[in-house]
Amino acid sequence: MAEELHIATTASKADKYEQLIPQIKGLVQGEEDLVANLANIAAALKQTFGFFWVGFYLVKNEELVLGPFQGPIACTRIKRGKGVCGTSWERAETILVPDVDAFPGHIACSSDSKSEIVLPLIKNMEVIGVLDIDSDQLNDFDEIDQKYLEELLSVTGFV
Ligand code: SME
Repeated sequence: MAEELHIATTASKADKYEQLIPQIKGLVQGEEDLVANLANIAAALKQTFGFFWVGFYLVKNEELVLGPFQGPIACTRIKRGKGVCGTSWERAETILVPDVDAFPGHIACSSDSKSEIVLPLIKNMEVIGVLDIDSDQLNDFDEIDQKYLEELLSVTGFV
């Protein structure tokens, strides 16, 4: 597969996800290395939607540790149950945060981050990490993002 994404810039958000997901699936299917695949997924999401920050934290020794990401430098370690990421890990569920200041315990890696969505990566019934996406706009994520991001993780084998 060519290392190039084809997404119609005029497409709606849902249509962009519809175009993107099969292309990411193709990219990931040909590669078994975890870091390579997570790095390309983060880059593809950043390139397509221009998110402020998109990346992964991976569970290592009972902590989330920063993995492949695109965007400004970020916090490197998050404990279980802490922040949006640690809460998503603890609950093993997606968390949508329309206003990060209204989320108790939110960890502000950047003061520019205003809203956030975090999805767990699950293998063999265990959370192995999270996908975290931040926006510099309030209320930037909704059920469309949740639906398609969950589908993306599913088709790439991370759920
Ligand atoms: N805001 C996250 C921390 C990670 S950064 O946003 C990249 C949280 O509360 O878990």
